Amino acid sequence: MRVSVDPDLCQGHNRCYALAPELFEIDDFGQSTARVDNVPPELQDKARLAVANCPEFAISIEED
Ligand code: F3S
Repeated sequence: MRVSVDPDLCQGHNRCYALAPELFEIDDFGQSTARVDNVPPELQDKARLAVANCPEFAISIEED
């Protein structure tokens, strides 16, 4: 599984980071980026949770 954040859509709500700090990092402007390219199996549920909780629909995952 791969996870990514669309920088044009992210508005800095930070829910992704609150739910899965292992997968996302927030820059000084509040923008999120994915910390990992390949999501390890134990974090895949968290990745899906982040997708479901981003109010801007900025996070996408690509299943293997
Ligand atoms: Fe951005 Fe959505 Fe996270 S708006 S900071 S990707 S919850």
